[in-house]
Amino acid sequence: MNKLLASSLSKTYYSAGHKLEVLKNVNITLAQGKTIGVIGSSGSGKTTLLQILAGLEFSDKGDIFYNDIDLLANGAKKFNSMRSQLFGFAYQFHYLLDDLTVYENCNLVFRIANNKNKLKNSEKIMTILRDLGIDQLKDSYPFMLSGGERQRAAIARAIVHEPMFVLMDEPTGNLDQDNAEVIQDLTIKLAKNLNIGIVVATHDLKYAGKLDSVFRIESGELKSI
Ligand SMILES: Nc1ncnc2c1ncn2[C@@H]1O[C@H](COP(=O)(O)OP(=O)(O)OP(=O)(O)O)[C@@H](O)[C@H]1O
Ligand SMILES: [Mg+2]
Repeated sequence: MNKLLASSLSKTYYSAGHKLEVLKNVNITLAQGKTIGVIGSSGSGKTTLLQILAGLEFSDKGDIFYNDIDLLANGAKKFNSMRSQLFGFAYQFHYLLDDLTVYENCNLVFRIANNKNKLKNSEKIMTILRDLGIDQLKDSYPFMLSGGERQRAAIARAIVHEPMFVLMDEPTGNLDQDNAEVIQDLTIKLAKNLNIGIVVATHDLKYAGKLDSVFRIESGELKSI
């Protein structure tokens, strides 16, 4: 089973002469096919941790390995070359590109990964859109969709290239409870079916409770609960 292993991550921010230790010696392992929840009060460091796990931000100390590959070696060279293969991202505010349709937003991921197998990619996109119940909206632009539909499209884009891991930052934070629950359950089901490891930063304890394991960030420390 493929794993992302982060050890002894520490991150301190300095702003306006103030020192803020956001993460202190954090260890976490993401395994393919497993779901992890990260909870903690606002400002506790959830987003910071996800950004560091994806190599989009850097810790002051610590290591991140994908199996036996040191992703931070040589100025994070491996992180940059493997990021699209390793990760998908879904955030509270969907960040779909407004002038691309749902289908084109999904297809963009393959273009970034330089995967040019058009027929196979198209089949994958349509399967995922169908699984998420939005295949009939494939030619719609984001402005034409409801909040829930947009979020489904964003989740489709995060998983369509079948990354090893998907990092979700409050993916259902701006949805009503019913819609949020449907999408939460779908993401868990898809993670299992596609063997994707997911990490969800969330304030929703009910959502976190449905995941395989849950951690809380408190005063910079990551505690298993
Ligand atoms: N680039 C930065 N420079 C300085 N401080 C930062 C920076 N990014 C984040 N912080 C601070 O680090 C702390 C952790 O922020 P982070 O966004 O990780 O919290 P969070 O747990 O995701 O919060 P929320 O639940 O509100 O999304 C906050 O106090 C934030 O102000
Ligand atoms: Mg956050």
